[in-house]
Formats: sequence, structure tokens, C-alpha cells
Amino acid sequence: MTSRCQSNRSKLLPFLTLLIVNLSVTLSFQLSFLQPHSDTHDAFGSNSTGSIAKERVSNLEYVDPHIGTNGPDPSEYGGMVPSVSAPFASVRWTPMTRENKVSGCAYHFNDTNYIGAIGSRQPAIWMGDYGFSTIFPGWSKAADGSKIAVDFQERGLPFLREDENASAYKHEVTVNRDVKGQSIFIEMSAKSRSAMIQYTYEPQRTTASVPHIVVQATRSGWRGAIYIDPDQGEISGYNPERMDYRLGPHQAPAFKGFFVYRFEYQTSSQAEEGWVKTLKDYGTISTNSSGSLEHSQQRSRWNEDGLFAYVRFPADTVKVRVRVGMSLISIDQARYNLEEEIKDGTMMGQVVEEVREAWRNKIDRVRVEGGTLAQKRILYTGIYHALQYPSEHAEPIPSDTSVSDRSAPSFHYYSAYTDSVHVVPAGEGWQRYQSWSIWDTFRAQWGFLILFEPERVLDMVRSLLDIYSQSGWLPMWANLAETNIMIGTHADSLIAEALRKGIRGFNESLAWEAVKKDATVPPDREDELRFEDREEFTPAEVRAGLSAYREIGFVPLDGWSESTSRTLDYAYDDHSVSRVASHLGLREDSEFYSNRSLNYVNVFDSSKGLMGARFRNGTFLDQPLEDPKGRQEGFTEGNMWDYTFGVIHDVRGLSKLVGGQDKLVDLLDRHFSEGHNDQSNEPSHHIPYLYSLLGKPWKTQERVRKVALEAFRDQPDGYAGNEDCGQQSSWYFFTSALGCYPVDPVSGEYVVGSPFFERVEVDLPARSLVDGREEASGRDEQIKTKRLVIKAEGASDKPFVRGLKVEGRKISEPLVTFEDIVSGGEWEFEMSSQPESWDSS
Ligand SMILES: *[C@@H]1O[C@H](CO)[C@@H](O)[C@H](O)[C@H]1NC(C)=O
Ligand SMILES: *[C@@H]1O[C@H](CO)[C@@H](O)[C@H](O)[C@H]1NC(C)=O
Ligand SMILES: *[C@@H]1O[C@H](CO)[C@@H](O)[C@H](O)[C@H]1NC(C)=O
Ligand SMILES: *[C@@H]1O[C@H](CO)[C@@H](O)[C@H](O)[C@H]1NC(C)=O
Ligand SMILES: *[C@@H]1O[C@H](CO)[C@@H](O)[C@H](O)[C@H]1NC(C)=O
Ligand SMILES: *[C@@H]1O[C@H](CO)[C@@H](O)[C@H](O)[C@H]1NC(C)=O
Ligand SMILES: *[C@@H]1O[C@H](CO)[C@@H](O)[C@H](O)[C@H]1NC(C)=O
Repeated sequence: MTSRCQSNRSKLLPFLTLLIVNLSVTLSFQLSFLQPHSDTHDAFGSNSTGSIAKERVSNLEYVDPHIGTNGPDPSEYGGMVPSVSAPFASVRWTPMTRENKVSGCAYHFNDTNYIGAIGSRQPAIWMGDYGFSTIFPGWSKAADGSKIAVDFQERGLPFLREDENASAYKHEVTVNRDVKGQSIFIEMSAKSRSAMIQYTYEPQRTTASVPHIVVQATRSGWRGAIYIDPDQGEISGYNPERMDYRLGPHQAPAFKGFFVYRFEYQTSSQAEEGWVKTLKDYGTISTNSSGSLEHSQQRSRWNEDGLFAYVRFPADTVKVRVRVGMSLISIDQARYNLEEEIKDGTMMGQVVEEVREAWRNKIDRVRVEGGTLAQKRILYTGIYHALQYPSEHAEPIPSDTSVSDRSAPSFHYYSAYTDSVHVVPAGEGWQRYQSWSIWDTFRAQWGFLILFEPERVLDMVRSLLDIYSQSGWLPMWANLAETNIMIGTHADSLIAEALRKGIRGFNESLAWEAVKKDATVPPDREDELRFEDREEFTPAEVRAGLSAYREIGFVPLDGWSESTSRTLDYAYDDHSVSRVASHLGLREDSEFYSNRSLNYVNVFDSSKGLMGARFRNGTFLDQPLEDPKGRQEGFTEGNMWDYTFGVIHDVRGLSKLVGGQDKLVDLLDRHFSEGHNDQSNEPSHHIPYLYSLLGKPWKTQERVRKVALEAFRDQPDGYAGNEDCGQQSSWYFFTSALGCYPVDPVSGEYVVGSPFFERVEVDLPARSLVDGREEASGRDEQIKTKRLVIKAEGASDKPFVRGLKVEGRKISEPLVTFEDIVSGGEWEFEMSSQPESWDSS
């Protein structure tokens, strides 16, 4: 999605720690506990824990978290931040250079002021943050009563680009380099619900200033709280801000994001190894439009001002180490989460190593040879992006037994749908997930997760069903709760694809009930609302216009916004519902929804030969298209060109509709040559692959290379649009590494394009064969993998493909199946420098 709203709008092993990444990560934790950790880096001549060690880093060295932190108009971002949290983390910790908000990220590559570190839950730039927390350092003169700068505009400490290092697992920056005696080396790493931030100060001070650190609980206008426990070195509190609470039906008045920070510090005058926890000079700060007030030695504060707590450290402080735990349940839970993930006494280097191993285990499952450095950087950074969504939402239930004795921890989570805490029932998995950008991610990111994270996908489907049970509907774009952003009920597709690809273990009859409701029940107030994008306080939007779609076969423009895109998307969703029905043996339902999935024909404007915006009386709106990529009435972030190809489930039927296969190829040629294709937004993602389905695979091969070259660069502004919760990156993964793309995600088929690398090895979690289908393995088998080797000799400079052998068998048309991928084995592409027709002999 792009700016629609630019202006206003089996069991866990014993001694498992609580980074619920996967078993292989867990194993590495066990190892890392056995090994001594030494902090080795030298920032100011004293021992520190600085450098992002290059040894044992492997493909992680290609991950550049700065990609996507700058960008062209309209958003000026790629929508990404250089976060350091573990895969699928609940909270993404990132350096902060500006105030984050709906349509603004906390970090921009152009900025040169560090305004703190933020633990953010904002999944995408067009969403709001919630349950976030901020911490920032500075200098003050306690003696003369000078104020601590807390405002975004005032508190920044300058840094130089060369003084910042970012990786998937650690962020380092030196701030105030040019202020004598006041530079600070700041290191940060984070797990799922916790982070560690370490501040190292120059030992030689030349000023009378002392270092302080400030925790921000709330921004002005929200009723939060902050507490200081100086004996424990703890600052805790909560922040009720949820930036997009106005969107959707769930206002969740009891919502709060809780935090617990634990401080410890070393001074040059104290014993080398010791850490002091007691805070001596501390207080709270409140701000409103008229300014800020400091309350020295005050231990708590709660109101609707901006709320802060500060700590001043002795003048000879050399290091401050901060651990922070976050929760959506309670302060006690935040403290528990912290102790489970980063226990008292943990060193910076240890956290960094554990998070690095978590990422390394993921990233190194894909190994490529050939291609350019830029292609590798885009690919691996993309994998890092795609493995962040959706995010873990459940938290471990505090238990009396210590972590190491507990064999089956259970989880609970705050639900904004019911505004209360729910326990994950025994036997229904462990984790629950939130941040569902489904309009984007049903296309390829979900397929990417099914390949690499089958076990998480099972809990993800359970999460979708919990949302259904609690709110009455499957999510569309759920941030903390439904936001009604974008259209269609593509959770239908997620469930159908999961079933097709062997994910088992969730309540399938409940899933059927949920998708059937999508297909049969219109939203509340359907007749009254047009369901424009970002209309506030609306009921769940689901299939707005469904009553008309059922009656007259399409959603009319004079009834609802984005009507033709809705018709096309509902038709695909019907196809998905049909697949779920057929999986459950419901033949008549399957046939019914399969029939209805042909409704796309009803918005085809034969006078133009393209899809059009249609009124209830049957006529089409005649609207000019001046900008080839412009937006038109009746379409979602697009126009009659990209949406004409939006029939991903019936390309054959679409050819008939437009007058034959050659006609459809001509239309595709015009779509590209006239500049309509727009990789920066999702409706175009499958379009270059359609040629392969129409007997012209060389056109797909040439086109995907061109699109990748134009829309992806390994630079901060390297995304043509926003990353969109892993969807852009998943497009790039399938296209460049596997050389195929899931045009119709629920079919289990992938259309072959042109791989970019000479050789690719992919280790996929093993699945066991059940009922002739691959099934996601149990937890204990997660570390067993199957290897797929893709050979494409010459791919670096030969873009065309003459043919493909899968395990020695020639593929008769440019299509492979899910089974071809997950069975492992060897694929051999025959590359060519000339366009070739497909060799199936
Ligand atoms: C600093 O490094 C030296 C040499 O590697 C080591 O002997 C010493 O214990 C370290 N001190 C700290 C505080 O880590
Ligand atoms: C970022 O910097 C680049 C290069 O100076 C500039 O072209 C671009 O407009 C800047 N973007 C923003 C949002 O400041
Ligand atoms: C960045 O990494 C390089 C290479 O490891 C190191 O020399 C440098 O000190 C680091 N800079 C910061 C600010 O951490
Ligand atoms: C906030 O505003 C009130 C008046 O509305 C004033 O009394 C109070 O001092 C202000 N607080 C700060 C921190 O400026
Ligand atoms: C599955 O969901 C259905 C509702 O469709 C419910 O009746 C049934 O009890 C559920 N089964 C289990 C095992 O929870
Ligand atoms: C599906 O469409 C066919 C052809 O129009 C029709 O014969 C059949 O009855 C339909 N099936 C259902 C379940 O509606
Ligand atoms: C159909 O409806 C549209 C929108 O109300 C209207 O502008 C148009 O004139 C109507 N056309 C006919 C033929 O009635």
C-alpha cells in the first residue's frame, strides 16, 4: 500500500529462555549460556562492547537496515527503521531521529540528530504506534538549575553518518563527537519484549556538566504514569497512547503500554567490575504547551501532560547500562518479560550475540552465489524485513517456578477487541500475532512465511481465528485492532493458502465459519457508509457492498468507494473461500463460491477493453487517465490498467474476456510500454508474471529483471514505495532467488520467471508427508531441514530461460508447485542470452 492518507490522514525444552524464535535459536542460546562472554570493543580506550563483530556473521553482513529509511515522495521514507530486535519481535527498538506518527517513522536517514531510542510497535509508516516507549541521554548542570531538554526539537544530540553502525542485531552511534568531554557511545540490541541500551562516556570531562538519561512515558494529551524506584534503579510506568484508535470499531479504553527500565552504572572512581544500581539524583518532568516543569526527587507522576522521569549520574560516570522490558498487560508483566529475556547481570555483548544468532539462523538458510553485491544486499535485507511481520503479541504468564524448571510455559495477551487479557488455551499453540497488513501480504509474504516458518504460521492462523472469535470478524488491516484500511477480506486467502500448503492443527470448522461469514454477511451500516479510506469510528468494513455484489454481481460506484477494486478482490476472495470449502469436503459450497468468483466479468467495460468503474444502472464512468500511474475513481490506489490484470485466480477466463490470449498479451505490452506498471504498489506485483501463463515466458523473464532493477536499490532510498510489511521483500525473494512467484497464492502453483543468481541453496524446515500433502512438522522437528538447490548457470548476465529441470524432470510449462519447492532436491535452469520459447521436449 502507499499513501492513501498523505494529508490527514511438543514442549519447550527446559531452560529455554523466552525469546520464542524457534528451536534452533533456543539451542544456540543454550550454547551461548555455556560460553563466557567478553566485551571487547574499544570506544574511548576503555573496555566496551562496541563493534559489530564481523567474524561468524556470514550473510548477515549483507543486511543493511538503512535500506528503506529514506525515499522519494510522497512519503519520503521506504517505511522502514533500522531496528535491532529479534525476528517477529513484539517491540522493534530503533534509534530515533524524529517524532513518529501516522505517516512518519521514528528514524530518517537524512537526519543528523539523535533524539533517543524508541521501542516501537508501529508496523508500517501508514499505521499509528501504540504501547511505545522512549529513552534519551543528555547533559545537564544540576547545580545551576538548568532545564533538561525533553522536547523533540530541543533534545537532539548531533551525530555524523560515519559514526553510526546499523545491523539487524545491534545499533551503535557516537553522538556529540565534537562537543569536548560530552560525546557518548550508544549501543543497543533487543529481543522480543526487551532491549538493552548501553551508554559509554568519555572518561575525561572538561565541563561541569553531568550525564542524564530521561525516560518518556507519554506525549501531551494522554493520561499516563511514571514511577521511580531509586533503590532498585528502576523507572516504570505506562503509556495509553494509541495513535489510530479512531479507526475501526474497537476503541479499547483500557489499553495501556507498560514499561520497566532498570539502570546500573559504573564510575571511574569505583571498582572496575562493579555496577551501582541505586539512583541518587532523579525526578519527574511534565510538559504542556506552556513549557516544562522539573520535579526533583519526585518518585511518581500521572496526568495528561507529557510525562518524563530523569536520572542524573555522577560526573565521573563511564558507563550506564539500561535494560527495558515492555508489556501490554501490566508493569509486573513488563518486569517479568525483562527478567525472562535479559536477566539481571547480563552483559551487552551477550545480548548482541544471542540476537545475532537468532538472525543468523534465519538469514543463513538462504545462500546465493553469483549476482551482484547490490542484489545480495537487497535480498538479505529483504529477508530481515519479511521476518518481522506479523509480530509476536502474547507474553509468558509469570510462574513461580524459575525459567529453567518450567517445561511448558503458557502465554496470555491483551486483546483490544475485548479490551481484556486472554490466555492461550493449552493445546492451541504458544504465541499469538498482531500487525496484519493482509491486503499487502496475502500476495507473497504469507507464502514466504509458509515456506520458512510453518510452525509460526500455525499460531498465526490461530491468531486470525482468535480475532474472529473475539470481534466477530477476521482481520483486514489489524494494527492493535482493526483499522479498516485497504479493502477485501483476504484473510480468506491466508487460510486457504495455509490449508493448501499443509498447515494443520487449527480449528478448521471455525475457519470455515469465519471465511463463510466474510462471503455472506455485509458490514453493519452498509447502506449508510461509503467506507472511504480512513473514515473514522466505522464498524468492521469487511466486504462493504457485498449485498449488491450478491444481487447484481458487482459493487456499484454509486454505493461504495473503490467499487471495482472491491468487486475484483471479492471475486478472488470467493475463489479462496471455495478452496477452503473444497478442503473440508463441502462440494456444493465450493462450487457456489467458485461460480461467484467469476463476478469479475461484471466490471469489464467492453467499450474500453479494460475494467471500469460501474454504476448500479449498468453504465461505466468515463474518466480520463492523465498520469499513466494515476488513481481513478472506483479503484484502490490504482486505475483501470493495473486492476484489469487483477484476476489472479482465472487468467484463462480473463483472456477470453478481453478477446483472446493475444489480446491479453497486447494489453500487457501496453501496460508496460505506456508506463502503467507500478511496482511501488502491490496490485502490480504479479503482472509481469502473466506473460509466462500466456505462452510468452521470455517477456516475463525480461520484465521481472527490469522491474527489480528499477524498483529496488541497495540504498537508503532503495525502495520505489514503502516496504509494506515484508511484501516488497517477498516479491524480491521469490523473483530473484527462487525464480518463480505465487501469482494465485491459494493454488499452490508458482509461475516461473528468471532467477538472478547462479546458484541458490535454501534450507527449509522439514515437513512430514500426511495424506499425500506436506505437513508442517511438530516443534521437535523444526531444526531438521530439507535443502533445495537451484542452479542457474549464467544467470548473472543471461536473463532468459530456455527450460527448467526439477529433479532431472523437464517442466513442460513455466509452472512449479509448492511440493517442488518443499521436497527439496535440485532445480536446474537453462539460461540463455536470447529470448527463447519454453523447451518442454
Ligand atoms: C579489559 O580488557 C582487559 C584486556 O583484554 C582485561 O584484562 C580486563 O579484564 C577488561 N576489563 C573489563 C572491565 O572488561
Ligand atoms: C534527503 O537527502 C537527499 C539528498 O540530499 C535529498 O535529495 C532528499 O530530498 C532528502 N529528503 C528529505 C525527506 O529530507
Ligand atoms: C563501526 O564499525 C567499525 C568497524 O567495525 C568500527 O571501527 C567503528 O568504531 C564503529 N563505529 C561506531 C560508532 O560504533
Ligand atoms: C500546564 O498548564 C497549566 C495551566 O493550564 C499550568 O498551570 C501549568 O503550570 C502548566 N504546566 C507546565 C509544565 O507548563
Ligand atoms: C471448533 O470450532 C467450532 C465452531 O465452529 C466449535 O463448535 C468447536 O467446539 C471447535 N472445536 C474445538 C476443538 O475447539
Ligand atoms: C454453478 O454454475 C453452474 C453453471 O452456471 C450451475 O449449473 C451450477 O448450478 C452452479 N452451482 C452452484 C452451487 O450454484
Ligand atoms: C447511471 O447512473 C449514473 C450515476 O448516477 C448517472 O450519472 C448516469 O446518467 C446514469 N445513466 C443512465 C443511462 O441512466
